[in-house]
Amino acid sequence: MYKILTYNNISVAGLERLARDRYEVASEIQHPDAILLRSFDLHGVAIPDSVRCIGRAGVGVNNIPVEECSRRGIPVFNAPGGNANAVKELVIAGMLLAARHICEAWDFARSLSGDDETVSRAVEQGKKRFAGTELAGKTLGVLGLGAVGVRVANAAVSLGMNVIGFDPALTVDRAWELSASVSRAAGIDDSIARSDFISLHLPLNGETRHMIGAARLEAAKKGAVLLNFSRAGIVDEPSVCAALDEGRLSAYVSDFPTSGLMGRKGVLLLPHLGASTAEAEDNCAAMVADQIRDFLENGNIRNS
Ligand code: MLT
Repeated sequence: MYKILTYNNISVAGLERLARDRYEVASEIQHPDAILLRSFDLHGVAIPDSVRCIGRAGVGVNNIPVEECSRRGIPVFNAPGGNANAVKELVIAGMLLAARHICEAWDFARSLSGDDETVSRAVEQGKKRFAGTELAGKTLGVLGLGAVGVRVANAAVSLGMNVIGFDPALTVDRAWELSASVSRAAGIDDSIARSDFISLHLPLNGETRHMIGAARLEAAKKGAVLLNFSRAGIVDEPSVCAALDEGRLSAYVSDFPTSGLMGRKGVLLLPHLGASTAEAEDNCAAMVADQIRDFLENGNIRNS
């Protein structure tokens, strides 16, 4: 019997891959063979000696002490692309939230009261106050052309946007094979300077931490919208706040609420919802459960 220690609710589609007659899966278990988790932060947690592999039902592995795992010979599995469609759809929604002032307009509409005539006068005011801009014809800069970035780029093209992109980790040719409709940006700075919307799709690591800071944001177009559905640490938050205060950015749409962003004008926050769809949760859990099973039963290490 293999024992799997879970730290988050894992979708049934994943748990079903671990047949009950061969696997015991629980949030408290002695001598686990594997750990299966989602966003729980494993840094600082004593990983039992019995653990032979770790599965992250998602893409980012920054919540796992990967170096320690490498030292101990514990493979870490993730689910590349498993939630890419879900994140893409929320990024497009994020652009629309900002471009059409949907959150502010929603609050305004909900606060209306009085008779029909009063409400209709207020509606006229709202129409003027929340007039927005269209996405079509605007330029989107996609930083990071992995599974999510490429999908965002292609969806934006279908909305009539001009898309430029850059990926520090891919050769330019490979990136362009993946995203035929995206035009080439010379680099991150070039993407930022030319974009009305800038969307981040990079993993958080030593190279990308605080990659979007004051110097880069100074080069942004006035009124640009920055979207972060990657990780909070990729931006230097005080610099983002300063860029909002100066009007350099008109909005920061982030899937990662932090105390420094609360209540700030121009900040639109979601509670890390990018991957939270039934479909994405099923995909990721199934992908990672299959990898754990293949490793424990056959010794195979595969990337999804
Ligand atoms: C990811 O890295 O894919 C997401 O953080 C997944 C999640 O929300 O659990």
